[in-house]
Amino acid sequence: MTSDKYPAKQHARTVTKQLFSLQPKFFSSDLNNSGSPLFLLASPQSVNWPFCDQQQPFRQNRNFYYLSGCDRPDCYLTYDTLNDKLVLYLPPIDDEDVMWSGMPETILEAQEHYDVDEIRLTPQLGSDVSILVDRTVFTVEPLVKAETRKEAFITATFGHLRESDPFLLSALEEARLTKDEYELSLMRRASLISDKAHYRVMANLKEAFNETHVHAEFVYHSIREGSKNQSYDPICCSGRTCSTLHWVTNDQDTAGKQLLLIDAGAEWKNYASDVTRVLPFNGEWTKEARSIYDLVLKMQSECMSRVRPGILWDDLHLLAHEILIEGFLELGIFKGGSKEEILESRISAAFLPHGLGHTLGMDTHDTAGHANYSDPDLLFRYLRIRRKLIPGMMITVEPGVYFSPFVIDPFLKGELGQPGAEKYIDRLLLEKYWDVGGVRIEDDVLVTENGFENFTKVTKDPDEIAEIVKSGKAPDWVYV
Ligand code: GLY
Ligand code: MN
Ligand code: MN
Repeated sequence: MTSDKYPAKQHARTVTKQLFSLQPKFFSSDLNNSGSPLFLLASPQSVNWPFCDQQQPFRQNRNFYYLSGCDRPDCYLTYDTLNDKLVLYLPPIDDEDVMWSGMPETILEAQEHYDVDEIRLTPQLGSDVSILVDRTVFTVEPLVKAETRKEAFITATFGHLRESDPFLLSALEEARLTKDEYELSLMRRASLISDKAHYRVMANLKEAFNETHVHAEFVYHSIREGSKNQSYDPICCSGRTCSTLHWVTNDQDTAGKQLLLIDAGAEWKNYASDVTRVLPFNGEWTKEARSIYDLVLKMQSECMSRVRPGILWDDLHLLAHEILIEGFLELGIFKGGSKEEILESRISAAFLPHGLGHTLGMDTHDTAGHANYSDPDLLFRYLRIRRKLIPGMMITVEPGVYFSPFVIDPFLKGELGQPGAEKYIDRLLLEKYWDVGGVRIEDDVLVTENGFENFTKVTKDPDEIAEIVKSGKAPDWVYV
């Protein structure tokens, strides 16, 4: 293996170790070979749109990529935990495909490219697994019995088959939680592209007459930097649409609005970035917008400064709410109670309904956060990380404050939160904030041995942002 290969083999070993800790009996020495499983994973099949000869866009199965580094459809992989052998199965070259789409990798090229022990062709898969009659085959999806997969398994007989095995899935998810240096280098590249594209949006805000112009600007510069896929649909909001957490309609005119919120992240080789910035139109912060921006910035910097191994994410999320409450008491939006009483009432969830952040990796909302979406406590229901931080985790730190009538009204009516919670809101003063819409500030952060490293470099200093919006000029390195 050379260091320029995606470390698939090491990933396979890490998953095996995770599986062992979840289910040790499969590896105990007094069992025969049937105790050491074989993993069998598939990449998605290429599929045309119904009644159409065009293929649906392809997105690699993240677990498949994790164990192969291969970004192609119609492939399989096996990992034999007993013999530590990773085999990637590629589809045979199809002459008609070559005519339309060009030559795919040859077997020889694939052997150079991937960190696997052997490259074979997909028609060989069925007979390869059949000779392992005394072994247990684990899959994460119901692929073996799927009718459409029949051709790959037509000759297969399985000794012991555990399709859709929850232990293998958990092992993959836990393994993916902490990133190795190779993965981090991909995520650094994704972050750098996002930084540049966010700066471009900032510097060109004066040309953005509609949210869709912001969307176009971000994607254009991402693609120019080599990132053809976004990690998720860009969220480009202006004025009151900033209060919709995942607004992807991106079609409103910007005239007369106070703030632009853009939550967008470029993807690099299947690894995500996820960054939110808020900009004042014309480079002028209104008094209300600036006060909410400063408050969210304080929430973010206080929470981020505490990121280190051993910290329970719930505690930082709670801290974000405490700072929000202090800020709202100072602004007068909250009144008539102490910080503790207001926190207890859960009324702050009306203004920060989502969680402080989530794990980040190949998926934007990545694996193993252990969220509890049925938590009866409103404050924690949408918190996507419910565990202690450990070194190597990539997370987002993304507090926000929103003025969404849809979210706030049930609290004002006393339908949500503790009984009587609505009395803590000054309704008259609240009127001044609806047009602020919402503010979220989001960075991508690595948990290190001693603390954290922030991968996101695009400025969030409100004066610097205003200056860039006004001057139309980002830092020089953005244009390199
Ligand atoms: N981009 C979605 C999120 O921030 O979680
Ligand atoms: Mn996020
Ligand atoms: Mn985001």
